[in-house]
Amino acid sequence: MAQDGNSGTDIAAADSSSTGHGTEHAVGTAVVARDAVQNPGFPPHRARVTDLDPKKEKNAERTVYTLFYLSIVGSVLAIAAYMAFPIIPEDIGSVRMNNLMIGLGLALALLAIGIGAVHWGKALMHDQEGIDMRHPVRGSEDTRARAVEIFDEANRESGFGRRSLIRNSLIGALIAFPLPAIVLFRGLAPENENPVDLLKHTMWEAGDKLARDPSGLPIKASDVTIGSVFHVIPEKLASVGHSEGYLEEKAKAIVLLMRLKPEDLVEDEDKKDWSYDGIVAYSKVCTHVGCPVALYEQQTHHLLCPCHQSQFDVTNHCAVIFGPAARPLPQLPIAIDDEGYLIAQSDFREPVGPSFWERH
Ligand code: FES
Repeated sequence: MAQDGNSGTDIAAADSSSTGHGTEHAVGTAVVARDAVQNPGFPPHRARVTDLDPKKEKNAERTVYTLFYLSIVGSVLAIAAYMAFPIIPEDIGSVRMNNLMIGLGLALALLAIGIGAVHWGKALMHDQEGIDMRHPVRGSEDTRARAVEIFDEANRESGFGRRSLIRNSLIGALIAFPLPAIVLFRGLAPENENPVDLLKHTMWEAGDKLARDPSGLPIKASDVTIGSVFHVIPEKLASVGHSEGYLEEKAKAIVLLMRLKPEDLVEDEDKKDWSYDGIVAYSKVCTHVGCPVALYEQQTHHLLCPCHQSQFDVTNHCAVIFGPAARPLPQLPIAIDDEGYLIAQSDFREPVGPSFWERH
């Protein structure tokens, strides 16, 4: 016999008699306390009111089916709301009303099912506590041998292993089956335009003025003080208005503009003229999975993507210094025009957004 140094409890190596399961333990690896707390068992069973009073039971039953009927009403309301409050293009109020009414209907439907099911379980279903003993996860040798036997039998009867032509053609068919979906997805892309090209290019063109988002006011270099940051769109995008395609174009062309001390910038030789007097412009679309990178840390000149914490070094062409993004944020080459407004020299020289576009 030994003594547990921490508790002073008497302990001894477990044997088959102490566990009661006939399990063999290596001496010294399993111990049981001699005065271990006995299993107190279940507390005395307390009958529910619905078990004692038939009237209460009836009430509970009524509540449950009322909730389920309420759920049906919620579902019907959601369908009716979809028809009664249609989305009218360019009417944001109609979108809100449509979402609100459908949401309320669905919320009622789901909530009523949930509450009804819980109430049913707690108040009416059989109230009996039972013990389900744990058992070893591994099957017995007999069970395992039988499983192998069944597997072999199925293999023999189906000829899966023997008829290699059938087996291989089936594997081929299963691989080919999802391919139509890929082709059908292609149909979702705009007609007569290459979707890859659409995603590779943004609406920035040489001479486009950089403008504030969302007002569309052009920005002069003198407006951008050291340490400031601007959210920028092409000026011509603001004039397009909220028509079809506005959001798609904005999602690709959105830019962050910052001004640093020119001596803080470490620029590659071939990109030295992409900035103007310490003002640099970078795509705001994270190269990981496309979240907006909008957190600028002025002191360290780091940009942080809030989605998965990728960090980019603005002093060094937005190189990735932390996180899952695989490439720097693309830089928009900028200059100024005769009036001192900031303009783009061209589109981005590489695709914006998630890195997988680099494969094309
Ligand atoms: S989307 Fe920016 S880190 Fe994931």
